[in-house]
Amino acid sequence: MTDLIEEIADFCTRHGMSETRFGELVLNDKPFVSQLRAGRDIRSSTVEKIRAFMRDFAGPGGAVSPDQASIGGRFPAGGRAFPHRDLLSIGQLETHEILFLLEEAEQWVALNRQATKHSDALAGLTIINAFFENSTRTLLSFEIAGKRLGADVVNMHAAQSSVKKGETLIDTAVTLNAMRADAIVIRHGSSGAVGLIGGKVDCPVLNAGDGQHEHPTQALLDALALRHKLQQQGRASSDGMFNGLTVTICGDILHSRVARSNILCLQALGAKVRVCAPPALMPAGIEAMGVEIFHHFDAALDGAEVVMMLRLQNERMDGQFIPSPREYRHLYGLTANRLALAEPDCIIMHPGPMNRGVEIDSDIADLKGRSIITDQVEMGVAIRMACLDVLTRKARKTPGWGEGEWV
Ligand code: NCD
Repeated sequence: MTDLIEEIADFCTRHGMSETRFGELVLNDKPFVSQLRAGRDIRSSTVEKIRAFMRDFAGPGGAVSPDQASIGGRFPAGGRAFPHRDLLSIGQLETHEILFLLEEAEQWVALNRQATKHSDALAGLTIINAFFENSTRTLLSFEIAGKRLGADVVNMHAAQSSVKKGETLIDTAVTLNAMRADAIVIRHGSSGAVGLIGGKVDCPVLNAGDGQHEHPTQALLDALALRHKLQQQGRASSDGMFNGLTVTICGDILHSRVARSNILCLQALGAKVRVCAPPALMPAGIEAMGVEIFHHFDAALDGAEVVMMLRLQNERMDGQFIPSPREYRHLYGLTANRLALAEPDCIIMHPGPMNRGVEIDSDIADLKGRSIITDQVEMGVAIRMACLDVLTRKARKTPGWGEGEWV
Protein backbone atom coordinates (compact mmCIF):
# COMPACT_ATOMS: atom_id res chain seq x y z
CA MET A 1 0.00 0.00 0.00
CA THR A 2 2.95 2.29 0.73
CA ASP A 3 3.87 1.91 -2.95
CA LEU A 4 0.47 3.11 -4.06
CA ILE A 5 0.54 6.08 -1.68
CA GLU A 6 3.96 7.05 -2.99
CA GLU A 7 2.79 6.71 -6.59
CA ILE A 8 -0.19 8.94 -5.85
CA ALA A 9 1.98 11.51 -4.05
CA ASP A 10 4.44 11.54 -6.94
CA PHE A 11 1.62 11.82 -9.49
CA CYS A 12 0.06 14.76 -7.61
CA THR A 13 3.41 16.59 -7.41
CA ARG A 14 4.10 16.13 -11.12
CA HIS A 15 0.66 17.38 -12.12
CA GLY A 16 0.30 20.15 -9.54
CA MET A 17 -2.79 18.45 -8.15
CA SER A 18 -3.81 18.39 -4.51
CA GLU A 19 -4.47 14.99 -2.96
CA THR A 20 -7.99 16.10 -2.08
CA ARG A 21 -8.61 16.81 -5.73
CA PHE A 22 -7.10 13.49 -6.70
CA GLY A 23 -9.52 11.65 -4.45
CA GLU A 24 -12.38 13.66 -5.85
CA LEU A 25 -11.42 13.10 -9.48
CA VAL A 26 -10.79 9.38 -9.22
CA LEU A 27 -13.32 8.19 -6.67
CA ASN A 28 -15.49 11.18 -5.91
CA ASP A 29 -14.09 10.93 -2.39
CA LYS A 30 -12.09 13.98 -1.27
CA PRO A 31 -10.48 12.57 1.94
CA PHE A 32 -9.60 9.27 0.22
CA VAL A 33 -5.79 9.74 0.06
CA SER A 34 -5.44 11.01 3.62
CA GLN A 35 -7.58 8.11 4.85
CA LEU A 36 -5.41 5.72 2.87
CA ARG A 37 -2.38 7.11 4.66
CA ALA A 38 -4.17 6.58 7.97
CA GLY A 39 -4.55 2.90 7.11
CA ARG A 40 -7.94 2.71 5.37
CA ASP A 41 -8.63 -0.64 3.70
CA ILE A 42 -8.87 -0.63 -0.04
CA ARG A 43 -10.25 -3.19 -2.50
CA SER A 44 -8.11 -4.49 -5.34
CA SER A 45 -10.67 -3.16 -7.87
CA THR A 46 -10.16 0.33 -6.40
CA VAL A 47 -6.38 -0.02 -6.69
CA GLU A 48 -6.92 -0.97 -10.32
CA LYS A 49 -9.15 2.04 -10.88
CA ILE A 50 -6.55 4.39 -9.38
CA ARG A 51 -3.73 2.94 -11.47
CA ALA A 52 -5.88 3.15 -14.62
CA PHE A 53 -6.59 6.80 -13.89
CA MET A 54 -2.91 7.63 -13.50
CA ARG A 55 -2.04 5.64 -16.61
CA ASP A 56 -4.73 7.29 -18.78
CA PHE A 57 -3.85 10.69 -17.42
CA ALA A 58 -0.36 10.23 -18.79
CA GLY A 59 -1.71 9.92 -22.31
CA PRO A 60 -3.84 7.60 -24.40
CA GLY A 61 -2.83 4.06 -23.56
CA GLY A 62 -0.16 5.40 -21.26
CA ALA A 63 2.20 5.64 -24.21
CA VAL A 64 3.17 9.23 -23.57
CA SER A 65 5.09 10.21 -20.47
CA PRO A 66 3.75 13.30 -18.68
CA ASP A 67 6.93 15.18 -19.46
CA GLN A 68 6.60 14.90 -23.22
CA ALA A 69 2.82 14.73 -23.37
CA SER A 70 0.67 17.03 -25.46
CA ILE A 71 -2.38 18.85 -24.13
CA GLY A 72 -4.34 15.60 -24.60
CA GLY A 73 -1.97 13.76 -22.33
CA ARG A 74 -1.09 16.30 -19.65
CA PHE A 75 -4.55 16.90 -18.27
CA PRO A 76 -7.46 14.75 -17.14
CA ALA A 77 -9.62 13.66 -20.04
CA GLY A 78 -12.62 15.70 -21.21
CA GLY A 79 -14.56 17.77 -18.71
CA ARG A 80 -12.45 16.56 -15.80
CA ALA A 81 -9.72 18.87 -17.05
CA PHE A 82 -11.83 21.81 -15.92
CA PRO A 83 -14.80 20.71 -13.82
CA HIS A 84 -16.02 24.20 -12.89
CA ARG A 85 -19.21 25.83 -14.07
CA ASP A 86 -17.99 29.33 -13.28
CA LEU A 87 -14.67 31.13 -13.24
CA LEU A 88 -14.91 33.21 -10.09
CA SER A 89 -11.36 33.19 -8.77
CA ILE A 90 -7.86 31.82 -9.16
CA GLY A 91 -8.24 30.57 -5.59
CA GLN A 92 -10.78 27.99 -6.80
CA LEU A 93 -8.37 26.47 -9.34
CA GLU A 94 -5.85 23.68 -9.11
CA THR A 95 -2.45 24.25 -10.72
CA HIS A 96 -3.20 21.80 -13.53
CA GLU A 97 -6.43 23.67 -14.29
CA ILE A 98 -4.51 26.94 -14.64
CA LEU A 99 -2.03 25.20 -16.94
CA PHE A 100 -4.93 23.76 -18.91
CA LEU A 101 -6.46 27.20 -19.58
CA LEU A 102 -3.04 28.59 -20.56
CA GLU A 103 -2.53 25.68 -22.94
CA GLU A 104 -6.02 26.09 -24.43
CA ALA A 105 -5.32 29.78 -25.02
CA GLU A 106 -2.37 29.04 -27.33
CA GLN A 107 -4.65 28.06 -30.22
CA TRP A 108 -6.42 31.41 -29.89
CA VAL A 109 -3.12 33.33 -29.75
CA ALA A 110 -2.34 31.69 -33.10
CA LEU A 111 -5.79 32.45 -34.55
CA ASN A 112 -5.64 36.06 -33.41
CA ARG A 113 -2.36 36.53 -35.27
CA GLN A 114 -3.93 35.51 -38.58
CA ALA A 115 -5.51 37.90 -41.04
CA THR A 116 -8.93 36.26 -40.62
CA LYS A 117 -9.63 35.81 -36.94
CA HIS A 118 -12.82 33.86 -36.76
CA SER A 119 -14.09 30.62 -35.29
CA ASP A 120 -17.64 29.30 -35.16
CA ALA A 121 -17.07 27.47 -31.87
CA LEU A 122 -19.71 29.50 -30.02
CA ALA A 123 -22.06 30.20 -32.95
CA GLY A 124 -25.65 30.69 -31.80
CA LEU A 125 -24.68 31.39 -28.18
CA THR A 126 -25.43 34.67 -26.41
CA ILE A 127 -22.88 36.19 -24.05
CA ILE A 128 -23.81 39.11 -21.82
CA ASN A 129 -21.05 41.37 -20.51
CA ALA A 130 -22.58 43.01 -17.44
CA PHE A 131 -20.21 45.71 -16.25
CA PHE A 132 -21.26 47.56 -13.12
CA GLU A 133 -17.93 49.39 -13.04
CA ASN A 134 -15.94 51.28 -15.65
CA SER A 135 -13.61 49.38 -17.89
CA THR A 136 -11.87 49.81 -21.22
CA ARG A 137 -9.58 46.90 -21.92
CA THR A 138 -11.36 44.15 -20.01
CA LEU A 139 -14.77 44.89 -21.53
CA LEU A 140 -13.36 45.30 -25.03
CA SER A 141 -11.27 42.18 -24.63
CA PHE A 142 -14.24 40.03 -23.57
CA GLU A 143 -16.35 41.53 -26.37
CA ILE A 144 -13.73 40.77 -29.01
CA ALA A 145 -13.17 37.30 -27.54
CA GLY A 146 -16.88 36.41 -27.74
CA LYS A 147 -17.21 37.79 -31.26
CA ARG A 148 -14.14 35.97 -32.56
CA LEU A 149 -15.69 32.76 -31.29
CA GLY A 150 -18.85 33.50 -33.27
CA ALA A 151 -21.15 34.25 -30.31
CA ASP A 152 -23.70 37.07 -30.12
CA VAL A 153 -22.27 39.49 -27.57
CA VAL A 154 -24.33 42.07 -25.70
CA ASN A 155 -22.81 44.67 -23.39
CA MET A 156 -24.71 45.99 -20.40
CA HIS A 157 -23.09 49.14 -19.03
CA ALA A 158 -24.35 49.61 -15.53
CA ALA A 159 -21.57 51.90 -14.33
CA GLN A 160 -23.89 54.81 -13.86
CA SER A 161 -26.82 52.81 -12.55
CA SER A 162 -27.70 52.80 -8.88
CA VAL A 163 -27.51 49.03 -8.67
CA LYS A 164 -25.70 48.04 -5.52
CA LYS A 165 -25.11 44.75 -3.78
CA GLY A 166 -28.24 43.22 -2.31
CA GLU A 167 -31.72 42.53 -3.60
CA THR A 168 -31.49 44.74 -6.64
CA LEU A 169 -28.39 42.93 -7.81
CA ILE A 170 -30.20 39.63 -7.47
CA ASP A 171 -33.10 41.04 -9.47
CA THR A 172 -30.65 41.99 -12.22
CA ALA A 173 -29.25 38.46 -12.17
CA VAL A 174 -32.72 36.97 -12.47
CA THR A 175 -33.42 39.29 -15.42
CA LEU A 176 -30.21 38.29 -17.21
CA ASN A 177 -31.05 34.67 -16.55
CA ALA A 178 -34.53 35.05 -18.03
CA MET A 179 -32.92 36.27 -21.26
CA ARG A 180 -31.29 32.85 -21.52
CA ALA A 181 -27.71 33.98 -21.79
CA ASP A 182 -25.22 31.17 -22.35
CA ALA A 183 -22.49 32.89 -20.36
CA ILE A 184 -22.44 36.05 -18.27
CA VAL A 185 -19.29 38.08 -17.73
CA ILE A 186 -19.55 40.36 -14.72
CA ARG A 187 -17.51 43.21 -13.31
CA HIS A 188 -18.75 44.67 -10.05
CA GLY A 189 -17.41 47.06 -7.43
CA SER A 190 -18.26 44.81 -4.50
CA SER A 191 -16.11 41.86 -3.53
CA GLY A 192 -18.16 38.68 -3.78
CA ALA A 193 -20.93 40.20 -5.93
CA VAL A 194 -20.02 38.06 -8.94
CA GLY A 195 -20.24 34.89 -6.88
CA LEU A 196 -23.61 36.06 -5.60
CA ILE A 197 -24.93 36.41 -9.15
CA GLY A 198 -23.37 33.07 -10.06
CA GLY A 199 -25.63 31.41 -7.52
CA LYS A 200 -28.75 32.88 -9.13
CA VAL A 201 -28.30 32.04 -12.81
CA ASP A 202 -28.28 28.85 -14.85
CA CYS A 203 -25.30 29.58 -17.08
CA PRO A 204 -21.54 29.93 -16.50
CA VAL A 205 -20.45 33.18 -14.86
CA LEU A 206 -17.03 34.72 -15.42
CA ASN A 207 -15.58 37.19 -12.95
CA ALA A 208 -14.15 40.22 -14.78
CA GLY A 209 -13.14 41.83 -11.47
CA ASP A 210 -15.12 42.03 -8.24
CA GLY A 211 -14.17 44.81 -5.85
CA GLN A 212 -10.88 44.12 -4.14
CA HIS A 213 -11.34 40.37 -4.34
CA GLU A 214 -10.19 38.79 -7.62
CA HIS A 215 -9.69 39.35 -11.32
CA PRO A 216 -8.91 35.82 -12.50
CA THR A 217 -8.65 36.38 -16.26
CA GLN A 218 -6.13 39.19 -15.63
CA ALA A 219 -3.85 36.82 -13.71
CA LEU A 220 -4.22 34.16 -16.41
CA LEU A 221 -3.39 36.58 -19.20
CA ASP A 222 -0.42 37.86 -17.21
CA ALA A 223 0.85 34.29 -16.83
CA LEU A 224 0.41 33.67 -20.55
CA ALA A 225 2.25 36.89 -21.51
CA LEU A 226 5.02 36.02 -19.07
CA ARG A 227 5.31 32.50 -20.44
CA HIS A 228 5.65 33.82 -24.00
CA LYS A 229 8.33 36.30 -22.96
CA LEU A 230 10.30 33.66 -21.05
CA GLN A 231 10.09 31.41 -24.13
CA GLN A 232 11.46 34.26 -26.24
CA GLN A 233 14.32 34.70 -23.77
CA GLY A 234 14.97 30.94 -23.83
CA ARG A 235 14.22 30.73 -20.11
CA ALA A 236 10.85 28.97 -20.15
CA SER A 237 10.56 25.59 -18.52
CA SER A 238 9.01 22.81 -20.63
CA ASP A 239 6.29 22.07 -18.06
CA GLY A 240 4.93 25.62 -18.30
CA MET A 241 5.72 26.33 -14.63
CA PHE A 242 7.53 29.40 -13.25
CA ASN A 243 9.48 27.47 -10.64
CA GLY A 244 11.82 29.72 -8.66
CA LEU A 245 11.06 32.87 -10.70
CA THR A 246 11.18 35.99 -8.53
CA VAL A 247 8.32 38.40 -9.22
CA THR A 248 7.93 41.77 -7.50
CA ILE A 249 4.46 43.32 -7.48
CA CYS A 250 4.61 46.99 -6.50
CA GLY A 251 1.87 49.54 -5.95
CA ASP A 252 -1.51 49.78 -4.35
CA ILE A 253 -1.68 46.19 -3.13
CA LEU A 254 -4.43 47.05 -0.63
CA HIS A 255 -7.08 47.88 -3.22
CA SER A 256 -5.90 45.55 -5.95
CA ARG A 257 -7.81 42.50 -7.09
CA VAL A 258 -5.12 42.13 -9.76
CA ALA A 259 -2.47 41.69 -7.05
CA ARG A 260 -4.55 39.11 -5.22
CA SER A 261 -5.27 36.99 -8.30
CA ASN A 262 -1.68 37.29 -9.47
CA ILE A 263 -0.21 36.26 -6.12
CA LEU A 264 -2.36 33.12 -6.18
CA CYS A 265 -1.66 32.33 -9.82
CA LEU A 266 2.08 32.99 -9.78
CA GLN A 267 2.53 30.98 -6.60
CA ALA A 268 0.48 28.10 -7.99
CA LEU A 269 2.92 28.08 -10.91
CA GLY A 270 5.90 27.98 -8.55
CA ALA A 271 7.05 31.62 -8.57
CA LYS A 272 8.34 33.47 -5.51
CA VAL A 273 6.22 36.57 -5.06
CA ARG A 274 7.29 39.78 -3.37
CA VAL A 275 4.86 42.60 -2.69
CA CYS A 276 5.96 46.18 -2.20
CA ALA A 277 3.85 49.15 -1.11
CA PRO A 278 3.83 51.98 1.42
CA PRO A 279 2.53 50.62 4.76
CA ALA A 280 -0.84 52.34 4.23
CA LEU A 281 -1.38 50.46 0.96
CA MET A 282 -0.34 47.02 2.21
CA PRO A 283 -3.20 44.78 3.37
CA ALA A 284 -2.91 43.61 6.98
CA GLY A 285 -2.12 39.93 7.23
CA ILE A 286 -0.96 39.55 3.63
CA GLU A 287 2.02 37.49 4.82
CA ALA A 288 -0.48 34.65 5.30
CA MET A 289 -0.52 34.41 1.50
CA GLY A 290 3.12 33.37 1.58
CA VAL A 291 4.52 36.53 -0.02
CA GLU A 292 7.61 38.46 1.03
CA ILE A 293 6.73 41.97 2.15
CA PHE A 294 8.75 45.08 1.25
CA HIS A 295 8.21 48.76 1.94
CA HIS A 296 11.43 49.85 0.20
CA PHE A 297 11.18 49.44 -3.55
CA ASP A 298 14.96 49.33 -4.10
CA ALA A 299 15.26 46.28 -1.83
CA ALA A 300 12.24 44.63 -3.48
CA LEU A 301 13.91 45.00 -6.89
CA ASP A 302 17.20 43.40 -5.90
CA GLY A 303 17.13 40.00 -7.64
CA ALA A 304 13.70 40.55 -9.25
CA GLU A 305 13.27 38.84 -12.63
CA VAL A 306 9.82 40.29 -13.22
CA VAL A 307 8.36 43.54 -11.92
CA MET A 308 4.63 44.14 -12.07
CA MET A 309 3.53 47.72 -11.41
CA LEU A 310 0.07 48.62 -10.17
CA ARG A 311 -1.89 51.84 -10.37
CA LEU A 312 -2.96 53.80 -7.31
CA GLN A 313 -6.67 52.97 -7.20
CA ASN A 314 -7.76 56.44 -6.14
CA GLU A 315 -11.43 55.67 -6.73
CA ARG A 316 -11.28 52.97 -4.06
CA MET A 317 -9.46 55.12 -1.51
CA ASP A 318 -11.45 56.44 1.33
CA GLY A 319 -9.27 59.33 2.48
CA GLN A 320 -5.64 60.25 1.92
CA PHE A 321 -3.34 57.23 1.52
CA ILE A 322 -0.24 58.91 0.03
CA PRO A 323 1.19 62.40 0.60
CA SER A 324 1.29 63.30 -3.13
CA PRO A 325 1.74 61.59 -6.53
CA ARG A 326 5.16 63.25 -6.76
CA GLU A 327 6.35 61.79 -3.51
CA TYR A 328 4.85 58.44 -4.45
CA ARG A 329 6.83 58.40 -7.70
CA HIS A 330 9.96 59.31 -5.79
CA LEU A 331 9.60 56.29 -3.49
CA TYR A 332 7.66 53.74 -5.51
CA GLY A 333 7.82 54.76 -9.19
CA LEU A 334 9.59 52.48 -11.65
CA THR A 335 12.29 54.67 -13.17
CA ALA A 336 15.35 53.76 -15.28
CA ASN A 337 17.60 54.07 -12.22
CA ARG A 338 15.42 51.75 -10.20
CA LEU A 339 15.10 49.19 -12.99
CA ALA A 340 18.89 48.95 -13.01
CA LEU A 341 18.68 47.43 -9.52
CA ALA A 342 16.70 44.44 -10.79
CA GLU A 343 18.07 41.45 -12.74
CA PRO A 344 19.52 42.42 -16.16
CA ASP A 345 16.65 40.91 -18.21
CA CYS A 346 13.94 41.92 -15.76
CA ILE A 347 10.53 41.82 -17.47
CA ILE A 348 8.22 44.82 -16.98
CA MET A 349 4.47 44.33 -16.58
CA HIS A 350 1.43 46.50 -15.86
CA PRO A 351 -2.24 45.48 -16.11
CA GLY A 352 -3.29 48.98 -17.16
CA PRO A 353 -4.62 51.56 -17.03
CA MET A 354 -1.25 53.21 -16.40
CA ASN A 355 -0.57 56.52 -14.77
CA ARG A 356 2.61 57.41 -16.64
CA GLY A 357 4.97 59.44 -14.52
CA VAL A 358 3.42 58.20 -11.28
CA GLU A 359 3.91 54.44 -10.74
CA ILE A 360 5.88 53.99 -13.95
CA ASP A 361 7.95 56.33 -16.12
CA SER A 362 6.94 56.59 -19.75
CA ASP A 363 10.27 55.39 -21.17
CA ILE A 364 10.15 52.31 -18.94
CA ALA A 365 6.57 51.48 -19.87
CA ASP A 366 7.61 51.54 -23.54
CA LEU A 367 11.03 49.92 -23.10
CA LYS A 368 11.57 47.62 -26.09
CA GLY A 369 12.53 44.03 -25.30
CA ARG A 370 11.68 44.43 -21.63
CA SER A 371 8.15 45.81 -21.30
CA ILE A 372 5.40 43.30 -22.16
CA ILE A 373 2.52 45.63 -21.36
CA THR A 374 1.02 45.47 -24.86
CA ASP A 375 1.59 41.68 -25.01
CA GLN A 376 -0.53 41.45 -21.87
CA VAL A 377 -3.38 43.11 -23.76
CA GLU A 378 -2.91 40.76 -26.72
CA MET A 379 -2.93 37.68 -24.48
CA GLY A 380 -6.07 38.96 -22.76
CA VAL A 381 -8.20 38.25 -25.82
CA ALA A 382 -6.81 34.71 -26.20
CA ILE A 383 -7.28 33.88 -22.52
CA ARG A 384 -10.87 35.12 -22.56
CA MET A 385 -11.56 33.08 -25.70
CA ALA A 386 -10.17 30.02 -23.91
CA CYS A 387 -12.32 30.66 -20.82
CA LEU A 388 -15.51 31.23 -22.82
CA ASP A 389 -14.85 28.16 -24.95
CA VAL A 390 -14.03 25.85 -22.02
CA LEU A 391 -16.90 27.03 -19.80
CA THR A 392 -19.53 26.54 -22.51
CA ARG A 393 -18.36 23.07 -23.55
CA LYS A 394 -20.79 21.23 -21.31
CA ALA A 395 -23.79 23.19 -22.63
CA ARG A 396 -22.53 22.73 -26.20
CA LYS A 397 -22.35 18.99 -25.58
CA THR A 398 -18.71 18.80 -26.56
CA PRO A 399 -17.76 15.09 -26.52
CA GLY A 400 -16.35 14.16 -23.13
CA TRP A 401 -17.65 17.32 -21.49
CA GLY A 402 -21.24 16.28 -20.86
CA GLU A 403 -20.84 14.20 -17.77
CA GLY A 404 -19.61 14.73 -14.25
CA GLU A 405 -20.46 17.07 -11.46
CA TRP A 406 -19.31 20.67 -11.09
CA VAL A 407 -16.95 21.34 -8.24
C1 NCD B 1 -7.45 46.53 -13.40
C2 NCD B 1 -8.79 46.37 -12.75
O1 NCD B 1 -9.79 46.89 -13.23
O2 NCD B 1 -8.84 45.67 -11.76
N1 NCD B 1 -7.44 46.80 -14.74
C3 NCD B 1 -7.66 45.84 -15.66
O3 NCD B 1 -8.56 45.06 -15.59
N2 NCD B 1 -6.81 45.78 -16.69
C4 NCD B 1 -6.54 47.35 -12.64
C5 NCD B 1 -6.90 48.79 -12.41
O4 NCD B 1 -8.02 49.22 -12.55
O5 NCD B 1 -5.98 49.50 -12.03
